[in-house]
Amino acid sequence: MKISVRYYTKTGNTKKLADEIAMTAGIEAKTVDERLSGDVDILFLGSSVYAAGVDEQVKKFIEGIDVHVGKIVNFSTAAILKSTYSQIKKIAGKKGIEVSDREYHCKGSFGPLHRGKPNAADLKEASKFAKLFL
Ligand SMILES: Cc1cc2nc3c(=O)[nH]c(=O)nc-3n(C[C@H](O)[C@H](O)[C@H](O)COP(=O)(O)O)c2cc1C
Repeated sequence: MKISVRYYTKTGNTKKLADEIAMTAGIEAKTVDERLSGDVDILFLGSSVYAAGVDEQVKKFIEGIDVHVGKIVNFSTAAILKSTYSQIKKIAGKKGIEVSDREYHCKGSFGPLHRGKPNAADLKEASKFAKLFL
């Protein structure tokens, strides 16, 4: 099974999850600047909420996918909002790409809020989550 991990981060929180998920899958996490070079069965895609929306680069990445993606598996961090799932599902839906209804989300530090998050326990959960698809 071909697996890829892509993520976007501004302050490093989502990268922590991406690296943990990639390590669990035995691969390397890459940013959304790097296009998918071939078909994948599972694309773990990490993003965050900035002013209530996902970054434009995440949208551009999804819109630019030109290989077959069996399924996107969403993971995200945010300070307040629940997750990026509905936004990712909407963008991917326009491309006809399925998004798994299972996702991983945890709080991400933002100024004085949620210091240290994602923490070791969050990473452990993220790894457990990734294993569901491997
Ligand atoms: C510019 C900016 C805007 C943000 N706006 C929101 C927001 O509207 N809602 C929210 O829940 N979190 C918001 N956050 C918090 C981030 O979603 C949270 O810190 C997240 O973990 C950042 O992920 P990253 O470190 O991978 O970039 C914002 C953070 C930044 C830097």
